[in-house]
Amino acid sequence: MNILMICLGNICRSPMAEGVLKHYLQNLNIDHLHHVDSCGFEPCHLGEKPHYKAINVAQKHGVDISNQRQRLFKVEDFDVFDKIFVMDNGNYNSVKSFARSMEDMQKVDFLYNIVKPKQNIIVPDPWGGTETDFEHSYAMIDQACKILANNLKNNSL
Ligand code: 4NP
Repeated sequence: MNILMICLGNICRSPMAEGVLKHYLQNLNIDHLHHVDSCGFEPCHLGEKPHYKAINVAQKHGVDISNQRQRLFKVEDFDVFDKIFVMDNGNYNSVKSFARSMEDMQKVDFLYNIVKPKQNIIVPDPWGGTETDFEHSYAMIDQACKILANNLKNNSL
């Protein structure tokens, strides 16, 4: 399965989500079966590494995201990816503005709906925040990605 993680900047939340999901897929020995990527909508960090606080928080939890590079969402991502996870309402609306069909939008969901279905709870944007803010967003991402990886293992996504 091809899974895309989306946030606004693609330097904080979605890189952490990409790294954490890959980490759990590796732990379950199913990483070769799935393709995980991330992107965003804000062009001012194009090609950059994730934010150093995102790199540090992930590193603290044994996840290396330092090789990731920022990229923008493109409409062809709807053709490549089976599931597209967003962090907040802004991301959801941005993806929606690219959607060409109901089928495109059916691929899109809030990441934290994996933990609390249908509640559309957001993963808050830690950009400009403290290490604690990054830890808070990381913890939500970690919860969701752990369940997601197990669902992929059980073919129950
Ligand atoms: P992210 O945080 O969406 O979690 O990557 C942000 C990073 C950068 C910007 C906005 C949000 N920005 O406007 O540059």
